Amino acid sequence: MSEAGKEMLRPILVTGARGQVGSELTRALQGLGPTVAVDRARLDLADHDSVRTFVRELKPAIIVNAAAYTAVDQAESDAATARLINADLPRVLAEEAGDLDALLIHYSTDYVFDGRLDRPYIETDTPDPLNVYGQTKLEGERAVAAVGGKHLIFRTSWVYGATGRNFLLTMLRLAREGRTELSIVDDQIGAPTWSATIAALSAHGAALYATGAHDDAWWTQRSGLYHLTSGGETSWAGFARAIFKAAGRDDVTVKPIASHEYRTAARRPLNSRLSGTKLAQSFGLSAPSWEVALSSCFELHMRSGESQ
Ligand SMILES: NC(=O)c1ccc[n+]([C@@H]2O[C@H](COP(=O)([O-])OP(=O)(O)OC[C@H]3O[C@@H](n4cnc5c(N)ncnc54)[C@H](OP(=O)(O)O)[C@@H]3O)[C@@H](O)[C@H]2O)c1
Repeated sequence: MSEAGKEMLRPILVTGARGQVGSELTRALQGLGPTVAVDRARLDLADHDSVRTFVRELKPAIIVNAAAYTAVDQAESDAATARLINADLPRVLAEEAGDLDALLIHYSTDYVFDGRLDRPYIETDTPDPLNVYGQTKLEGERAVAAVGGKHLIFRTSWVYGATGRNFLLTMLRLAREGRTELSIVDDQIGAPTWSATIAALSAHGAALYATGAHDDAWWTQRSGLYHLTSGGETSWAGFARAIFKAAGRDDVTVKPIASHEYRTAARRPLNSRLSGTKLAQSFGLSAPSWEVALSSCFELHMRSGESQ
């Protein structure tokens, strides 16, 4: 057995266990070995001393950090908390992972970019966040890279799923409440990404590590940033239309509006498109199109009423 394979006698730690991605990860990682998934009640991630103690006692072989401060508008007036979770916590986890020679899988966001480019962003494009959330997530990415251990940082976008706070569930709730016309932003372009897609591709990365198929040099070489989103692109209005179609709610009309007609505390990039080329070339991984993923999400969850 290779060194990395032996590591899998140690558990996988998942933070943010009740979040959109974290809850899918706890399922997706199950086959790889013992998984310890922590929610806020079990471990307050703002208490970094407790986090260090917890990690040192658990000695995980892989840490998957799916926790984040994701309230984008609230972050504008609560930068300190956002920074604690989005920037400082990843540094703490990267340092602890380094001491344990563990792999750290971490997530970031399209909101690190200002959205002014007229093509999908690649990993080497210069970030320039428009809001506090994006700024703190960028600081988190840079902190993990600066620590320098084995790590994968997946930048994703427009996450939705059957649980949690997300655009899909908000649209379905508004339709259930009897709204028949909704004004939705049409000038922000990106790829809605199903939490299960993110978990499945992350689990593939974790499995590569767990099986010990590659040595430390391979992992060091591949450590870094990867864009992980659904294929294709749409606007929020386009996404809303597809949701109502999938839900059989043709009675709901989507009225396209511009971002400036929908005021929010945080500014958002107009171009949120992320190119998945590096992930495909480095790991042979690519996500399904956003339409296929949405349809799968409906098949799996919505018909059974899991999210109602
Ligand atoms: N959501 C999106 O559209 C989006 C877009 C791009 C990138 N991302 C990134 O993708 C990753 C996963 O996002 P997500 O949508 O799954 O997020 P999410 O659903 O908001 O889940 C985040 C989790 O972090 C937990 N958390 C926050 N502060 C904590 C603390 N002090 N102690 C313990 N737990 C804490 C939350 O717990 P509570 O439930 O108790 O608050 C929540 O369960 C994040 O890195 C995020 O930045 C998300």
